[in-house]
Amino acid sequence: MKAIKSKLEVTLPKAFYFSDDIYAQEKERIFCREWFCAGRQEQVPNPGDYLVVELAAESILVVRRKDGTLAAYYNVCRHRGSRLVPVATAEPNAQTGLGPSGTFGSGIRCPYHAWTYALDGSLRTAPFLREEEAFYKDEFALHPVGVETWAGFFFLHLTPSETQVAGRSLQDQLDGVPGRLQRYPLRELRAARRIVYEVAANWKVIVENYNECYHCAGVHPELCAIVPQFKKDGGGDLDWEHGIPHKEGAFTFSFSGTTPRAPFPGLDGDEKIRHKGELVYPNFMLSLSADHVAAFTLWPRGPLHTTIACDFLFHPTEIAKPGFDPSDAVDFWDLVNRQDWSICENVQRGMSSRVFEFGYYAPMESWSLDIRRYIGERIPLPARPEQ
Ligand SMILES: [Fe+2]
Repeated sequence: MKAIKSKLEVTLPKAFYFSDDIYAQEKERIFCREWFCAGRQEQVPNPGDYLVVELAAESILVVRRKDGTLAAYYNVCRHRGSRLVPVATAEPNAQTGLGPSGTFGSGIRCPYHAWTYALDGSLRTAPFLREEEAFYKDEFALHPVGVETWAGFFFLHLTPSETQVAGRSLQDQLDGVPGRLQRYPLRELRAARRIVYEVAANWKVIVENYNECYHCAGVHPELCAIVPQFKKDGGGDLDWEHGIPHKEGAFTFSFSGTTPRAPFPGLDGDEKIRHKGELVYPNFMLSLSADHVAAFTLWPRGPLHTTIACDFLFHPTEIAKPGFDPSDAVDFWDLVNRQDWSICENVQRGMSSRVFEFGYYAPMESWSLDIRRYIGERIPLPARPEQ
């Protein structure tokens, strides 16, 4: 390789965006080992209700138990391995956009031999099997998945036995986010709209794109018209701690920068007029205006494809008002989102070239550099290329 004098930090190598082997390592060491934001609690409102999601190629049942708490199980019968809800893949569903949902009533019945489990995962009945014949029902509970909630969101953990280890709780993973967002009434909010996008790009391309605003001036002219700060100095000097100011007279993400909706109760002076954003690795992104929140969950489907669910959350008081219309925020976001996903797909296509080995992070992309650190702490990186 020809030596170059530039001192820019290099990105992850090309294989991290294309290789099935690296993706398999990510599945094992990240998606199966970290808390993964999978939706809003209100998607499973009543005891017996369930939702099926596909996470790291595993089909997972999220169930509301009798006591009102959420539980999650692998969608696998302990008898012969049949799926309990016979979903072939993550079939799009009108309500969730991600997987089927419905109600089990009081029990989860396998369609194969009718082994039936209680909502707490314990095996309740296995037809014609008697305990006196060396068959003990308490040895056949469903395989559990960890589930925790924060701010109305629920998070899943595919290896729950490891979450008791110090530093592996959901609170550890959320780190400073709950503190920074403490005045936003996130738990009370409700999704008025959900848009699900299919994006032909590696999940890290999307996270890296969310992490920097160097691209904003070129990719998001409408957004920069409302938030001129995003195009200043390549978005390198943005004060996310106190929020990003809008143009004079604007205070939210809509084409006009305004909305008839009231700001959330409890926000401080900055939060009523500024925009905040958070990213929780590996798959959760929050963008917060004074009157609405765009909540993104990424669902990696392979090295080359990511499903993205975007929930638009509003205060129930506003939703209940006659004439409530979320489209000022939703249409604006949909435009910005499509600009992002389109440029991410363009990056993925460009990186496939035989001349591309790795890219570079500009100084204002230091948060994207953080992805290299995050991955490197979990998957061995090859030696840094000679420069
Ligand atoms: Fe963007």
